[in-house]
Amino acid sequence: MQKEIVNLLKKENKLSDDTISEIKDIDLNDFSNIVKELGKEDTSYIKASEISKDLDTEYIGKNLYIYNEVLSTNTIAKFLSMNDVENGTVIISEKQTQAKGRSGKVWESPLGGVWLSIILKPNVDHSKLPLITLATGVAVAKTLEEIGVENPEIKWPNDIIINDKKVCGILTEAVAKFNTIESVIVGVGIDANLDVEQFPEELQEGTTTLKVELKREGNENHLIKLFLEEFEKIIGQFNNEEYEDILKEWRKRSYSIGKIVEVREPFNTYYDAYVLGIGKEGALVVEKIDGTLEKVISGECIIKK
Ligand code: BTN
Repeated sequence: MQKEIVNLLKKENKLSDDTISEIKDIDLNDFSNIVKELGKEDTSYIKASEISKDLDTEYIGKNLYIYNEVLSTNTIAKFLSMNDVENGTVIISEKQTQAKGRSGKVWESPLGGVWLSIILKPNVDHSKLPLITLATGVAVAKTLEEIGVENPEIKWPNDIIINDKKVCGILTEAVAKFNTIESVIVGVGIDANLDVEQFPEELQEGTTTLKVELKREGNENHLIKLFLEEFEKIIGQFNNEEYEDILKEWRKRSYSIGKIVEVREPFNTYYDAYVLGIGKEGALVVEKIDGTLEKVISGECIIKK
């Protein structure tokens, strides 16, 4: 995290190369104030004024920090979450240079995408975190439906798929102190106004973008506004413990249920299984080849057919 903050400050000429000695003299509070100020400076096409115009939310996105370039919005969000920001604060960057994907992968984030992180301060325990991720997937899918995408699907746990290709990924991270969750950082990356050729060759086959699917460029600010509204609605359901309603919306759009997958759990347990559905805590329920049932709580599921 320190690397992120130093990188940002250096890039914006707030620090010279003699970083170490300067950092020692800066109070953490001043650091966060500088990071916050930078997030209010002008950017080229993601504009707070555009997003806020007619934004119909009570608290999500009321406080926006927008950057030209950061390593990862999730890292900035984590840093700010520990430095006095409101519930629902959103961090956006036009470009990320070292964004984080799931399972330690790098997330490609060139100019033209929507890269954002939302800081939530919910009163929940760890077992409920997967439901926040699933709820976010539903909010993205509904947003895409609103802008004309015909059948966005959700691949467990939270890849958004259009015509068998990934268009969006979600990375939820918790900031905890003594096992109590202080904040949840919900990171969302949508491949919006991009061409598939902008991605590394090995990703191109499995990737699509909104520009490709809708055959037109869209407005990123409008997309963000719609998403923040959908997100607040579904997080409201989450806060009211209406978990079954969230899961119902998820199941309606599931890409995984009914498919044969290779389950890759952490610590390298791989096996093939048939996806039966999703349990009430957000785990994927699968039937192994020997007929036994398993709940997959974390990991990857590679679709086989
Ligand atoms: C995945 O691997 O599918 C998750 C990708 C999550 C990417 C988003 S982009 C905004 C936020 N900042 C990050 O560093 N990662 C998330």
